[in-house]
Amino acid sequence: MGLRSDWKYLLPYELLEPNWRLWSFVAVLAVGFWAVVAFPVAQFAGYIDPFYSPTVLIVPLPGVFRLTCYAYRKDYHRHLFKHPQGCSNADRGEAAGRKYTGERNAVFQLENFHRYFLYAGIAILPFFYYDFGYSLVYSGQFVLRLGSLVLLANALMLTGWTLSCHAFRHLVGGNIDCYSCVAAGNARKGIYDKQSWLNSHHEALAWISLLTIVFVDLYLRGLAAGLPIDVTFLRF
Ligand code: FES
Repeated sequence: MGLRSDWKYLLPYELLEPNWRLWSFVAVLAVGFWAVVAFPVAQFAGYIDPFYSPTVLIVPLPGVFRLTCYAYRKDYHRHLFKHPQGCSNADRGEAAGRKYTGERNAVFQLENFHRYFLYAGIAILPFFYYDFGYSLVYSGQFVLRLGSLVLLANALMLTGWTLSCHAFRHLVGGNIDCYSCVAAGNARKGIYDKQSWLNSHHEALAWISLLTIVFVDLYLRGLAAGLPIDVTFLRF
C-alpha cells in the first residue's frame, strides 16, 4: 500500500478535490464566524452580545461541540467529504477508491470526543439566560423589548438543541438494561422518554439554534448601527 493510499484513509482527501461552490460557501461561513467572534458588539443599549458574554472565554469548546454534533456530521460527511455516503448508498463512496473503515480514522476518532464537549455545552447554557435577564433592566427600569425576546428565543433553542443531544440521551438513559428493575427506575424512564421525544427533533433544533445565534448577533449589530428595529412592549 503506497503512501497516498495510506494517507487517504486518515483524512477526508476529497477535501482537496475542486468543489469551488461548496468550499466558497464554507469559506464565507468561516470568515463570517471569525468576524463575529473577533469583533463582538459587546454591550449595547442594555443588551449583551452572546459572543461577548462569558461564553466567549470558552468559545472553542462550544464551537467543537457544534462541529462534532451528529446532525452536522451527517451533512458534512455526505455532502462535503462524500465519505461515508448514506447507508443506503450501495458503495458508501468506496467507488472513489476509499474503503469504509468504520470509525477508525483520525477524523472520526476526534468526532467521538463529542460526548465530552457536551459538558461544555451544558455549562454555558446559564449564561444565555443571564444575558436575557440582564437585558430586562435598562436605565434603572424594568423593560421588556423585542431584543430580550430574541435573546430568550435563542437561549431556548440552544437549550433544546443541547438537551436533545444523542450523548445526553445516553447520559440520561444509558447504562440501564431494565428500568423497572431499579429503584426509581420509572422516574428515570419518564425523563428518558421525554428526552427521546426531544432527541427525535435534534436535527431541526441543531439548524434552528444555529440560525438563532446568528440572528441575535445580526440583530444587535443592526441596533448598534442605528437601525430602528427594537420595540419596547413594557416599561416601568
Ligand atoms: Fe448534536 Fe450532540 S449529537 S449536539
